[in-house]
Amino acid sequence: MASKKIITVFGATGAQGGGVARAILQDSNSEFAVRAITRDTNSEKATALAALGAEVVAADIDDKESINRALQGAYGAYCVTFFWAHFSPEKEYAEAKSMAEAAKAAGLQHVIWSTLEDTRQWVPLDDDRMPTLQGKYKVPHFDAKGEADHLFTELGVPTTFLRASFYWDNFIYFGMGPKKGPDGKLYLTLPMGDKKMAGIASEDIGKCAYGIFKRGQELIGKTVGVAGEHLTGQEMAAAFSKALGQEVLYNSVSPETFRSFGFPGADDLGNMFQFYRDFDEVCNSVRDVSLSRALNPELKSFDVWLAENAARIPLE
Ligand SMILES: NC(=O)c1ccc[n+]([C@@H]2O[C@H](COP(=O)([O-])OP(=O)(O)OC[C@H]3O[C@@H](n4cnc5c(N)ncnc54)[C@H](OP(=O)(O)O)[C@@H]3O)[C@@H](O)[C@H]2O)c1
Repeated sequence: MASKKIITVFGATGAQGGGVARAILQDSNSEFAVRAITRDTNSEKATALAALGAEVVAADIDDKESINRALQGAYGAYCVTFFWAHFSPEKEYAEAKSMAEAAKAAGLQHVIWSTLEDTRQWVPLDDDRMPTLQGKYKVPHFDAKGEADHLFTELGVPTTFLRASFYWDNFIYFGMGPKKGPDGKLYLTLPMGDKKMAGIASEDIGKCAYGIFKRGQELIGKTVGVAGEHLTGQEMAAAFSKALGQEVLYNSVSPETFRSFGFPGADDLGNMFQFYRDFDEVCNSVRDVSLSRALNPELKSFDVWLAENAARIPLE
Protein backbone atom coordinates (compact mmCIF):
# COMPACT_ATOMS: atom_id res chain seq x y z
CA MET A 1 0.00 0.00 0.00
CA ALA A 2 1.27 3.48 -0.84
CA SER A 3 2.26 5.44 2.25
CA LYS A 4 -0.34 7.76 3.64
CA LYS A 5 -0.31 11.50 2.91
CA ILE A 6 0.70 13.45 6.00
CA ILE A 7 -1.55 16.25 7.27
CA THR A 8 0.21 18.51 9.77
CA VAL A 9 -2.40 19.65 12.27
CA PHE A 10 -1.66 22.78 14.29
CA GLY A 11 -3.64 23.12 17.51
CA ALA A 12 -4.01 19.34 17.61
CA THR A 13 -4.54 19.32 21.38
CA GLY A 14 -7.27 21.96 21.04
CA ALA A 15 -10.84 22.14 19.79
CA GLN A 16 -10.45 22.62 16.03
CA GLY A 17 -7.19 20.77 15.45
CA GLY A 18 -8.20 18.01 17.86
CA GLY A 19 -11.35 17.46 15.81
CA VAL A 20 -9.33 17.26 12.57
CA ALA A 21 -6.82 14.84 14.09
CA ARG A 22 -9.46 12.52 15.57
CA ALA A 23 -11.58 12.57 12.39
CA ILE A 24 -8.62 11.29 10.37
CA LEU A 25 -7.28 8.88 13.01
CA GLN A 26 -10.67 7.28 13.62
CA ASP A 27 -11.04 6.44 9.92
CA SER A 28 -8.96 3.30 9.52
CA ASN A 29 -9.26 3.52 5.72
CA SER A 30 -8.06 7.11 5.57
CA GLU A 31 -5.62 8.08 2.84
CA PHE A 32 -4.13 10.54 5.36
CA ALA A 33 -1.83 10.27 8.39
CA VAL A 34 -1.78 12.85 11.19
CA ARG A 35 1.22 14.84 12.35
CA ALA A 36 -0.15 16.40 15.52
CA ILE A 37 1.53 19.66 16.55
CA THR A 38 1.81 20.65 20.20
CA ARG A 39 4.26 22.59 22.33
CA ASP A 40 4.30 19.77 24.87
CA THR A 41 4.58 16.28 23.43
CA ASN A 42 4.22 14.75 26.91
CA SER A 43 0.86 16.25 27.85
CA GLU A 44 -2.15 14.02 28.44
CA LYS A 45 -3.82 15.24 25.23
CA ALA A 46 -0.68 14.72 23.16
CA THR A 47 -0.25 11.22 24.55
CA ALA A 48 -3.89 10.42 23.76
CA LEU A 49 -3.33 11.48 20.12
CA ALA A 50 -0.21 9.31 19.91
CA ALA A 51 -2.25 6.38 21.25
CA LEU A 52 -4.72 6.90 18.39
CA GLY A 53 -1.84 6.67 15.90
CA ALA A 54 -0.71 10.27 15.43
CA GLU A 55 2.90 11.27 14.95
CA VAL A 56 3.24 13.86 17.71
CA VAL A 57 5.71 16.64 16.91
CA ALA A 58 6.74 19.69 18.92
CA ALA A 59 6.41 23.10 17.29
CA ASP A 60 5.38 26.62 18.25
CA ILE A 61 3.61 28.84 15.73
CA ASP A 62 5.68 31.75 17.02
CA ASP A 63 8.86 29.94 15.97
CA LYS A 64 9.17 29.90 12.18
CA GLU A 65 11.92 27.26 12.10
CA SER A 66 9.77 24.88 14.10
CA ILE A 67 6.89 25.45 11.64
CA ASN A 68 9.21 24.64 8.74
CA ARG A 69 10.21 21.39 10.44
CA ALA A 70 6.58 20.54 11.21
CA LEU A 71 5.66 20.82 7.51
CA GLN A 72 8.60 18.86 6.08
CA GLY A 73 7.40 15.99 3.92
CA ALA A 74 3.74 16.80 4.53
CA TYR A 75 0.99 16.78 1.91
CA GLY A 76 -1.22 19.27 3.70
CA ALA A 77 -1.80 21.27 6.87
CA TYR A 78 -4.60 22.53 9.07
CA CYS A 79 -3.54 26.03 10.12
CA VAL A 80 -5.20 27.81 13.04
CA THR A 81 -4.15 30.64 15.36
CA PHE A 82 -5.07 31.10 19.02
CA PHE A 83 -6.33 34.64 19.61
CA TRP A 84 -7.54 34.07 23.16
CA ALA A 85 -4.06 32.94 24.25
CA HIS A 86 -2.71 36.48 23.75
CA PHE A 87 -5.50 38.86 22.51
CA SER A 88 -3.17 40.25 19.80
CA PRO A 89 -4.39 40.52 16.18
CA GLU A 90 -0.88 41.55 15.06
CA LYS A 91 0.51 38.36 16.53
CA GLU A 92 -2.14 36.30 14.73
CA TYR A 93 -1.27 38.00 11.45
CA ALA A 94 2.46 37.29 11.96
CA GLU A 95 1.69 33.65 12.82
CA ALA A 96 -0.47 33.27 9.69
CA LYS A 97 2.36 34.81 7.62
CA SER A 98 4.86 32.32 9.02
CA MET A 99 2.52 29.40 8.30
CA ALA A 100 1.77 30.59 4.75
CA GLU A 101 5.47 31.09 3.95
CA ALA A 102 6.39 27.73 5.45
CA ALA A 103 3.57 26.02 3.51
CA LYS A 104 4.90 27.57 0.30
CA ALA A 105 8.48 26.53 1.07
CA ALA A 106 7.40 22.97 1.87
CA GLY A 107 5.39 22.74 -1.36
CA LEU A 108 2.19 21.69 0.40
CA GLN A 109 -0.62 20.55 -1.85
CA HIS A 110 -3.54 21.54 0.38
CA VAL A 111 -3.76 23.94 3.32
CA ILE A 112 -6.90 24.67 5.30
CA TRP A 113 -6.59 28.12 6.87
CA SER A 114 -9.03 28.62 9.74
CA THR A 115 -10.04 32.19 9.11
CA LEU A 116 -12.93 34.55 9.84
CA GLU A 117 -14.32 37.70 8.23
CA ASP A 118 -12.27 40.89 8.23
CA THR A 119 -15.32 42.73 9.56
CA ARG A 120 -13.84 46.10 8.51
CA GLN A 121 -14.92 45.28 4.96
CA TRP A 122 -18.53 45.70 6.17
CA VAL A 123 -18.00 48.03 9.15
CA PRO A 124 -15.27 50.54 8.28
CA LEU A 125 -13.36 52.04 11.20
CA ASP A 126 -15.31 55.32 10.90
CA ASP A 127 -18.64 53.48 11.29
CA ASP A 128 -19.71 54.45 14.80
CA ARG A 129 -22.25 51.68 15.28
CA MET A 130 -19.54 49.85 17.25
CA PRO A 131 -16.33 51.11 18.87
CA THR A 132 -12.95 50.67 17.18
CA LEU A 133 -10.82 48.40 19.36
CA GLN A 134 -7.02 48.16 19.76
CA GLY A 135 -6.69 51.20 17.48
CA LYS A 136 -7.58 49.63 14.14
CA TYR A 137 -10.02 46.76 14.52
CA LYS A 138 -13.75 46.30 14.88
CA VAL A 139 -13.68 42.62 15.90
CA PRO A 140 -10.02 42.01 16.78
CA HIS A 141 -10.29 38.21 16.93
CA PHE A 142 -11.85 38.15 13.45
CA ASP A 143 -10.18 40.96 11.54
CA ALA A 144 -6.53 39.91 11.40
CA LYS A 145 -7.50 36.36 10.43
CA GLY A 146 -9.44 37.71 7.44
CA GLU A 147 -6.71 40.21 6.67
CA ALA A 148 -4.23 37.32 6.51
CA ASP A 149 -6.18 35.45 3.77
CA HIS A 150 -4.31 37.28 1.02
CA LEU A 151 -0.96 35.98 2.32
CA PHE A 152 -1.93 32.44 1.32
CA THR A 153 -3.42 33.54 -2.00
CA GLU A 154 -0.53 35.78 -3.03
CA LEU A 155 2.06 33.12 -2.27
CA GLY A 156 0.11 30.67 -4.41
CA VAL A 157 -0.45 28.25 -1.52
CA PRO A 158 -3.31 25.88 -2.48
CA THR A 159 -5.67 26.91 0.29
CA THR A 160 -9.26 26.37 1.43
CA PHE A 161 -10.46 29.23 3.63
CA LEU A 162 -12.50 27.71 6.46
CA ARG A 163 -14.82 29.95 8.46
CA ALA A 164 -15.89 28.34 11.71
CA SER A 165 -19.07 29.30 13.57
CA PHE A 166 -19.73 30.09 17.22
CA TYR A 167 -18.85 26.91 19.15
CA TRP A 168 -21.77 25.66 21.24
CA ASP A 169 -18.97 24.43 23.54
CA ASN A 170 -18.64 28.11 24.58
CA PHE A 171 -21.72 27.42 26.73
CA ILE A 172 -19.56 24.99 28.73
CA TYR A 173 -16.07 26.54 28.68
CA PHE A 174 -16.48 30.23 27.93
CA GLY A 175 -19.11 31.10 30.56
CA MET A 176 -21.76 31.86 27.94
CA GLY A 177 -24.44 29.42 29.06
CA PRO A 178 -27.72 30.26 30.79
CA LYS A 179 -27.27 31.90 34.21
CA LYS A 180 -29.61 32.31 37.15
CA GLY A 181 -31.06 35.82 37.45
CA PRO A 182 -31.94 37.54 40.77
CA ASP A 183 -35.45 36.07 40.36
CA GLY A 184 -33.99 32.52 40.34
CA LYS A 185 -34.93 31.97 36.69
CA LEU A 186 -32.41 30.92 34.04
CA TYR A 187 -31.51 33.49 31.37
CA LEU A 188 -29.56 33.07 28.13
CA THR A 189 -28.02 36.51 27.57
CA LEU A 190 -27.01 37.38 24.02
CA PRO A 191 -27.11 40.63 22.01
CA MET A 192 -28.58 38.98 18.90
CA GLY A 193 -32.06 40.55 18.85
CA ASP A 194 -34.24 38.24 16.76
CA LYS A 195 -31.52 37.31 14.28
CA LYS A 196 -30.22 33.81 13.65
CA MET A 197 -26.60 32.96 14.46
CA ALA A 198 -24.58 30.09 12.99
CA GLY A 199 -23.36 27.67 15.65
CA ILE A 200 -21.59 24.32 15.68
CA ALA A 201 -20.28 21.57 17.95
CA SER A 202 -16.54 22.30 17.91
CA GLU A 203 -15.71 18.65 17.19
CA ASP A 204 -17.70 18.96 13.94
CA ILE A 205 -15.38 21.69 12.61
CA GLY A 206 -12.56 19.17 12.38
CA LYS A 207 -14.82 16.55 10.83
CA CYS A 208 -15.86 19.07 8.15
CA ALA A 209 -12.20 19.94 7.58
CA TYR A 210 -11.44 16.25 7.03
CA GLY A 211 -14.26 16.24 4.45
CA ILE A 212 -12.54 19.18 2.72
CA PHE A 213 -9.19 17.35 2.59
CA LYS A 214 -10.93 14.26 1.21
CA ARG A 215 -12.31 16.30 -1.71
CA GLY A 216 -8.77 16.98 -2.95
CA GLN A 217 -8.58 19.87 -5.39
CA GLU A 218 -12.30 20.66 -5.39
CA LEU A 219 -12.38 23.25 -2.60
CA ILE A 220 -8.96 24.82 -3.11
CA GLY A 221 -9.28 28.58 -3.52
CA LYS A 222 -12.79 28.46 -2.03
CA THR A 223 -14.18 29.86 1.21
CA VAL A 224 -16.15 27.23 3.11
CA GLY A 225 -18.16 28.21 6.19
CA VAL A 226 -19.26 25.43 8.51
CA ALA A 227 -22.29 25.37 10.81
CA GLY A 228 -24.48 22.81 12.54
CA GLU A 229 -27.53 25.10 12.64
CA HIS A 230 -28.56 28.75 12.43
CA LEU A 231 -30.65 29.66 15.49
CA THR A 232 -32.14 32.73 17.16
CA GLY A 233 -31.57 33.40 20.85
CA GLN A 234 -35.21 32.48 21.40
CA GLU A 235 -34.74 29.15 19.63
CA MET A 236 -31.59 28.39 21.62
CA ALA A 237 -33.36 29.23 24.89
CA ALA A 238 -36.23 26.89 23.93
CA ALA A 239 -33.73 24.10 23.15
CA PHE A 240 -32.00 24.70 26.51
CA SER A 241 -35.37 24.54 28.31
CA LYS A 242 -36.09 21.15 26.75
CA ALA A 243 -32.61 19.72 27.41
CA LEU A 244 -32.31 21.05 30.99
CA GLY A 245 -35.90 20.29 31.96
CA GLN A 246 -36.32 23.81 33.32
CA GLU A 247 -37.36 27.01 31.65
CA VAL A 248 -34.62 29.16 30.08
CA LEU A 249 -35.60 32.65 28.99
CA TYR A 250 -33.83 34.58 26.24
CA ASN A 251 -32.44 37.83 27.61
CA SER A 252 -31.90 39.96 24.52
CA VAL A 253 -29.53 42.76 25.51
CA SER A 254 -27.99 45.49 23.37
CA PRO A 255 -24.42 45.06 22.10
CA GLU A 256 -23.53 48.14 24.25
CA THR A 257 -24.72 46.29 27.35
CA PHE A 258 -22.83 43.14 26.38
CA ARG A 259 -19.61 45.14 25.79
CA SER A 260 -19.94 46.64 29.28
CA PHE A 261 -19.96 43.23 31.05
CA GLY A 262 -16.28 43.76 31.83
CA PHE A 263 -14.80 40.29 31.43
CA PRO A 264 -11.64 40.13 29.26
CA GLY A 265 -12.74 40.31 25.61
CA ALA A 266 -16.32 41.46 26.36
CA ASP A 267 -15.90 44.43 23.99
CA ASP A 268 -14.51 42.20 21.20
CA LEU A 269 -17.34 39.68 21.65
CA GLY A 270 -19.97 42.43 21.88
CA ASN A 271 -18.77 43.72 18.51
CA MET A 272 -18.70 40.17 17.14
CA PHE A 273 -22.33 39.51 18.11
CA GLN A 274 -23.31 42.88 16.68
CA PHE A 275 -21.60 41.93 13.40
CA TYR A 276 -23.41 38.56 13.40
CA ARG A 277 -26.69 40.40 14.13
CA ASP A 278 -26.37 43.30 11.67
CA PHE A 279 -24.81 41.22 8.86
CA ASP A 280 -26.72 38.00 9.49
CA GLU A 281 -27.15 37.26 5.80
CA VAL A 282 -23.45 37.78 5.07
CA CYS A 283 -22.46 35.47 7.95
CA ASN A 284 -25.14 32.81 7.57
CA SER A 285 -25.05 32.47 3.79
CA VAL A 286 -21.37 31.48 3.85
CA ARG A 287 -21.89 29.07 6.79
CA ASP A 288 -23.88 26.53 4.85
CA VAL A 289 -25.44 23.73 6.92
CA SER A 290 -26.14 21.50 3.88
CA LEU A 291 -22.54 21.69 2.65
CA SER A 292 -21.31 21.11 6.21
CA ARG A 293 -23.46 17.97 6.40
CA ALA A 294 -22.24 16.79 3.00
CA LEU A 295 -18.64 17.20 4.23
CA ASN A 296 -19.45 15.59 7.57
CA PRO A 297 -22.50 13.30 7.60
CA GLU A 298 -22.26 13.08 11.43
CA LEU A 299 -22.91 16.85 11.81
CA LYS A 300 -24.83 17.53 15.03
CA SER A 301 -27.87 19.73 15.47
CA PHE A 302 -28.09 21.90 18.60
CA ASP A 303 -30.65 19.50 20.14
CA VAL A 304 -28.36 16.51 19.62
CA TRP A 305 -25.35 18.42 20.99
CA LEU A 306 -27.39 19.52 24.03
CA ALA A 307 -28.65 15.99 24.71
CA GLU A 308 -25.00 14.94 25.06
CA ASN A 309 -23.65 18.05 26.81
CA ALA A 310 -26.36 19.90 28.75
CA ALA A 311 -25.30 18.34 32.05
CA ARG A 312 -21.80 19.82 31.62
CA ILE A 313 -23.00 23.43 31.33
CA PRO A 314 -22.37 25.45 34.52
CA LEU A 315 -25.60 27.31 35.36
CA GLU A 316 -24.34 29.51 38.22
N1 LIG B 1 -14.75 29.76 20.42
C1 LIG B 1 -15.40 29.99 19.28
O1 LIG B 1 -16.65 30.02 19.24
C2 LIG B 1 -14.63 30.20 18.02
C3 LIG B 1 -15.34 30.25 16.82
C4 LIG B 1 -14.64 30.46 15.63
C5 LIG B 1 -13.26 30.61 15.66
N2 LIG B 1 -12.59 30.55 16.87
C6 LIG B 1 -11.14 30.73 16.84
O2 LIG B 1 -10.52 29.52 17.16
C7 LIG B 1 -9.16 29.79 17.49
C8 LIG B 1 -8.69 28.82 18.54
O3 LIG B 1 -8.83 27.51 18.10
P1 LIG B 1 -9.26 26.37 19.11
O4 LIG B 1 -10.56 26.76 19.76
O5 LIG B 1 -9.16 25.08 18.40
O6 LIG B 1 -8.11 26.50 20.21
P2 LIG B 1 -7.98 25.79 21.63
O7 LIG B 1 -8.99 24.73 21.83
O8 LIG B 1 -7.86 26.89 22.63
O9 LIG B 1 -6.60 25.03 21.48
C9 LIG B 1 -5.47 25.67 21.35
C10 LIG B 1 -4.36 24.62 21.24
O10 LIG B 1 -3.34 25.23 20.46
C11 LIG B 1 -2.11 25.05 21.03
N3 LIG B 1 -1.34 26.31 21.00
C12 LIG B 1 -1.58 27.47 21.65
N4 LIG B 1 -0.61 28.36 21.37
C13 LIG B 1 0.25 27.74 20.51
C14 LIG B 1 1.45 28.12 19.88
N5 LIG B 1 2.00 29.33 20.08
N6 LIG B 1 2.07 27.24 19.07
C15 LIG B 1 1.55 26.01 18.87
N7 LIG B 1 0.42 25.58 19.46
C16 LIG B 1 -0.22 26.44 20.27
C17 LIG B 1 -2.32 24.54 22.43
O11 LIG B 1 -1.69 23.31 22.46
P3 LIG B 1 -0.40 22.93 23.33
O12 LIG B 1 -0.56 23.62 24.66
O13 LIG B 1 -0.51 21.45 23.38
O14 LIG B 1 0.78 23.42 22.55
C18 LIG B 1 -3.83 24.32 22.57
O15 LIG B 1 -4.20 23.02 22.93
C19 LIG B 1 -9.14 31.24 18.02
O16 LIG B 1 -8.27 32.01 17.24
C20 LIG B 1 -10.59 31.69 17.89
O17 LIG B 1 -10.69 33.03 17.46
C21 LIG B 1 -13.25 30.33 18.02
